[in-house]
Amino acid sequence: MHIDDRGYQFADAVYEGVTVRHGRMVDLEPHLDRLWRSMGELRIAPPMDRAPMRFVFSQVIAKNRIENGFLYIQISRGVAKRDHAFPTKPVASSLVVTLKRLDVDGVIARAGKGVKAFSEADIRWGRCDVKSTSLLPNILAKQAAKEKGGFEAVLVDKDGYVTEGSSTNMWIVRKDGVVQTRSTADNILPGITRATLLKLAAELQIKVVEEAFTLEDAKGATEMFLSSSTGCATPIVELDGQKIGDGTPGPIAKRLVEAYQRYMDA
Ligand code: PDD
Repeated sequence: MHIDDRGYQFADAVYEGVTVRHGRMVDLEPHLDRLWRSMGELRIAPPMDRAPMRFVFSQVIAKNRIENGFLYIQISRGVAKRDHAFPTKPVASSLVVTLKRLDVDGVIARAGKGVKAFSEADIRWGRCDVKSTSLLPNILAKQAAKEKGGFEAVLVDKDGYVTEGSSTNMWIVRKDGVVQTRSTADNILPGITRATLLKLAAELQIKVVEEAFTLEDAKGATEMFLSSSTGCATPIVELDGQKIGDGTPGPIAKRLVEAYQRYMDA
């Protein structure tokens, strides 16, 4: 890692995280689509085409001999003398790919129990659709939630609406049984797990609306859950010390967790 790497100095970088299950990458193509979109939005040049990148990923998995893991991909704008503006002479972007073991069965077991979450103010910027490594607001929110005994921070905007989690998308089940999750047009990260859960919900004939909900809506919901590549779908059974529903994972979240598990294992 070069000291003048713009990812290191400015967090001028984008990333992806892909779950590896039984040696296979879950939802690789949508992750690559989002990676290319993030680079495009920030005008970072792709370090290589998609086909060689797929090959690099598969080599990292094969050489590490890890069956269940988290593949982390980071691409920075590259190395240049420190200056906020883009390098005037085009530089090659830097690619880093790592693979760490991920206890996917442990994640599923945790989903069976549910987790606690705490609300925190969303103090991020207006381009949360870009998967950038500039994550300080997310880090501070997660840490605050953790110090209160929570697993995740539920980010809330100035108007009282839940945006997403510090590293997850947020969902509720309303009293009328309809599932609700914020629209990706509304300054959140378009989660890949979110998109897959939307497809699975449609197959299960579970009605979903993509509309923002408030923190109060969440507290009055019958169920709440989060989604992410490393968290699959995980029920939130307590928010700010208040039970959601009866304080145990609800039936809709359970069905989605099972469907997602089948999807990963297929
Ligand atoms: N986080 N929202 C935010 C802010 C995220 O950082 C993430 C992913 C998600 C869920 O997206 P996906 O389903 O594509 O993983 C939503 C990853 C796991 C991370 O930062 O490690």
